[in-house]
Amino acid sequence: RVVEGLVCAQNWLRASPFPSIEECLEEVELLEEELEEACGTPVSRLKQVVDAMAVEMHAGLASEGGSKLKMLLTFVDKLPIGSEKGIYYALDLGGTNFRVLRVQLGGRRSGIVRQDVERKPIPEHLMTSSSEDLFDFIATSLKEFFDQENDKDSDISPAPRRELGFTFSFPVKQTSVSSGILMKWTKGFSIQDMVGNDVCEFLHQAMSRQGLDMHIAALVNDTVGTLALGHYNDEDTVAAVIIGTGTNACYFERADAIIKSQGFPTSSGGMVVNMEWGNFWSSHLPRTSYDIELDAESPNPNDQGFEKMISGMYLGEIVRRVILRMSKESDVFGPISSNLCKAFILRTPLMSTMHEDESPELEVVARILDEVLGISDVPLKVRKLVVNICDVVTRRAARLAAAGIVGILKKIGRDGSGAVASSRAKGPSSSNRLRRTVVAVEGGLYSNYRMFREYLNDAVAEILGEELAPYVILKDRLSISWPLFLKLNIL
Ligand code: GLC
Repeated sequence: RVVEGLVCAQNWLRASPFPSIEECLEEVELLEEELEEACGTPVSRLKQVVDAMAVEMHAGLASEGGSKLKMLLTFVDKLPIGSEKGIYYALDLGGTNFRVLRVQLGGRRSGIVRQDVERKPIPEHLMTSSSEDLFDFIATSLKEFFDQENDKDSDISPAPRRELGFTFSFPVKQTSVSSGILMKWTKGFSIQDMVGNDVCEFLHQAMSRQGLDMHIAALVNDTVGTLALGHYNDEDTVAAVIIGTGTNACYFERADAIIKSQGFPTSSGGMVVNMEWGNFWSSHLPRTSYDIELDAESPNPNDQGFEKMISGMYLGEIVRRVILRMSKESDVFGPISSNLCKAFILRTPLMSTMHEDESPELEVVARILDEVLGISDVPLKVRKLVVNICDVVTRRAARLAAAGIVGILKKIGRDGSGAVASSRAKGPSSSNRLRRTVVAVEGGLYSNYRMFREYLNDAVAEILGEELAPYVILKDRLSISWPLFLKLNIL
């Protein structure tokens, strides 16, 4: 009877409608391979992206609307060099957080003597409400900051009329260094009455409502603030990149190369250009069906294509979409959970935690799948599958950002190609020597996600090759109070 029972059970298992985990994994193997292939970024492909980036930069500088790369003028024509002195105020609005900053600079020897920072998450509802709500929140926070400061620091009180630098991390068409019109929203913000209007006007009016008397001396993108800080620390800094909720880059361009500015006079012969590279597009980008669907369902379809493949706002969402598809097409994740169907439920920090889970049984992966996506009792092999999905998505993102960086270096002649060729031809005494080139990189994704950072750094070195790579330095964590620091009196 026992034997009969066993045979019976065996038959039942064979005929069972529930496939084994191995069978389930086989079912998704194809999808996994497809994903890996579609996200592939061999160095040959990255070099095509480098070239496309450099070409688009030229086009964007040649004429308004010449490229998806806006290449916005910033009217910042000098960068700080470390010898500055004085007290500077700044406020920073642009992603997940809002910051108010007071920095005291002590000159070449002392550097940053003191800095006070107040940081607040931006309540989500304000990102899509009205300009008045958003700016009242900002102005109130600003007022609180100054009230506290005056209490603490009576020697600077009564303060003279304060000068303020405003970092506003969205595409702005600047009309001067201290004014500019919001072109469109990115990163999930959407306050329609602001588009097409001067950003500083909104801040100015909200400050007046709070009785704050401040002069907005500069309006800058976060990339520009980062470049200023990078240059303050190291004068070889030529470009800055943000990889956080969104992604973007700026760099110092020669005035004669900015053809569309029609000879705008600059005292230094150049100007910082805000590329808005989040909107870069090229047929060489490795796009998947997940990207296409994410884009189509986003509030800004056909917009910010590069950003949607790279930045923190989207990586977790891409991973969720892959898991959802696998869940629909196999039993590997059990029945489709309702949480798995919710867009943006898997935030990128959680995705990075899964990716970097070092516990032997991947317990952290299991916990996040369970608590966030409602997928429970996931066997180890499936946890490994999830880690691989995170890896593929992150690796592609980091390597594309790396190609973007080398694209900028190529545009400004710092990718060393000419120099290497000429030093090979003429020997080491060549006058066309390679130059030390620093790129400041900031943003939560780059700073907090080790795997992302390593993939990006490795890819930059891989694209440049071993002869050039040592000359290009990526510097992050420029200051404790990321991201910005402005030297207002140069502007
Ligand atoms: C988005 C914004 C851009 C900003 C970047 C990083 O791409 O459009 O202005 O610099 O995010 O915050």
